Parts: sequence; C-alpha cells; structure tokens
Amino acid sequence: MGDSRETFGPNAFVTGYPVKHSRSPLIHGHWLRTLGLAGSYRAHEVSPDDFPTFIAALKNGSSGFVGGNVTIPHKETAFKLADRPDDLSVELGSSNTLWLQDGLLHATNTDGRGFTVNLDERHPGWDRTGRVVILGAGGASRAIIQAVRDRGIGEIHVVNRTVERAQELADRFGQRIHAHPMAALAEAMRDAGLFVNTTSLGMDGEAAPQIDFSPLAKNAVVTDIVYVPLKTPLLAQAEEQGFAIVDGLGMLLHQAVPGFEKWFGKRPVVDEALRAIIIADMEKH
Ligand code: ATR
Repeated sequence: MGDSRETFGPNAFVTGYPVKHSRSPLIHGHWLRTLGLAGSYRAHEVSPDDFPTFIAALKNGSSGFVGGNVTIPHKETAFKLADRPDDLSVELGSSNTLWLQDGLLHATNTDGRGFTVNLDERHPGWDRTGRVVILGAGGASRAIIQAVRDRGIGEIHVVNRTVERAQELADRFGQRIHAHPMAALAEAMRDAGLFVNTTSLGMDGEAAPQIDFSPLAKNAVVTDIVYVPLKTPLLAQAEEQGFAIVDGLGMLLHQAVPGFEKWFGKRPVVDEALRAIIIADMEKH
C-alpha cells in the first residue's frame, strides 16, 4: 500500500540534473513523518532544456507542486525565472529554494544560512574572530562568503587555484573580501579563527593536499562543506594538528529548514535522529 498522506497535502520537489543522488527526499520525508503532516517531497529530474517549461508549469499551477529545491545545474536559471527572488538570491545570482505565494514564484538561497546555523550549533562563538579563510571560489563559496560577511566578520580571505575567480568574488561581495592565489594560503591563514574548505579536494575519498594549519589562531575551527566522508582528509589533518573541526553534514540539513516551513507550514528541527538517517544512507552507498 502507498502512503496515503501523499494523496493529500502539498507536494514539493527537488530538481537537478542528475538528481538521483540527492539526500533531500530523505530529510523532508523524515520531517513529514515525524511531524505527522500530509504532503510529499520527491526527486524530479529535469534537463536544462526542459527547465523553463517545468518552471512555467510550476507558476501556472499545472505541475501540482507548491515549490521545491533546486540543485546543480539549475540554481542560476531558477533565480532568473523567479518572479520574486529575495535580496540574498539577487546578490548571489542563484536560488536553491522556490515557493508559490499569491500566484507568484518566490525564491531564496538557503545555503549560507545552512552554513552559519550549523557552525552556531556545533561550534558556538565561531564568529568572535575578525578573520576567516575560505578555500575555493565556486557556487558554494559565494553563499558562504555572503553569510560570513553578513555576520559581520572583519576580513574574509578567499584563496583559490584560479585567483581571478576569487577576485571576482572580492569585487562582488565588497571591501572586506580579499582574494589570494594558492601560493599565499599560509599567509592568508595567519591568525584566522575559521578555515572553510569549499572545494572538492578530498571528496569521496580522493587524496587531498597536506595543509599546515599552524598559521591559524590557536582556538580556530576548521570546517569542510564536503560531507562524504564525514571526516574529510582535510578535517582529519586539522584534528591531528590540534584544531577543532565541524563536518559539513549539518549545512545540508539546516539549508533544508526554510523550504520545508514554506511548503508544509511547520518549522522542522535538525536533530541527531535526522543526522543518523543520512549517515546510515551514506554507509549504504
Ligand atoms: P561548487 O559550485 O560546488 O562550489 P565549482 O564551481 O566547480 O563547484 O568550484 C569548485 C572549486 O573547487 C573551485 O574553487 C575550484 O578551483 P578553480 O576555481 O581554480 O577551478 C576548486 N578546485 C577543484 N579542484 C581543485 C583542485 N584539484 N585543486 C585546487 N582547487 C580545486
């Protein structure tokens, strides 16, 4: 027998290309179940060519969805096609969360919020530093730069293999952002209280470069947005060198909260039971 709750209530999606690896259905499915809410959340693969038609059907109500999450490669197009992107999305040029409200398609980007709420939970006080180092200058880096800047951190140093991409972000996000090539990593790290890896280095068990974290402030925290494995090679190195570490799984979980509340009307909580579900799924694959 199917789940009768899916027959009623709002329907939401996660779309990407591909989307089958997304763990968002597990997260939202857990919340729907534990909160006892009617509704559904499912993965819905849409190719880039078909994406505008999908959004048109969402806007005119014929898709049957009230909104959803958008992942790679649709975040920029979702932002462009939304009727009411919020200020965070406008500055980033990308949206990961969509919802219909009064017949208009609203959009926001919750990645940066997911990042800061995870750190608040796992390492409260992380924002007392005046200096943060962010490795990488891709889409994830942007959202984190924005969120860390909006927290009021004095200096944000973005270090990237292709320094031009880091410079673009410095130009976009304002005077407190500084761009550096990889060769300047040690110097950029000096006395920083937070080190963030936003690159794919060390993902899925791939080898990562050795990093000497000793230039960081003594009480610094090191975090990685990669969460497979949970303890990435960079986090393992940082821990061995005596630094506090925070894994990236919480960012994934916390970025999901605002969307769920928009679509299903209740604010869910990120708890250990949810973490355990995702960790068990990671161990299966
Ligand atoms: P995302 O949107 O997920 O952040 P992305 O836009 O592809 O992904 O960005 C990936 C980041 O990882 C970039 O900062 C990239 O550096 P470049 O801008 O120089 O390409 C970085 N990256 C990926 N592989 C890397 C490697 N082997 N060494 C150093 N940096 C790497």
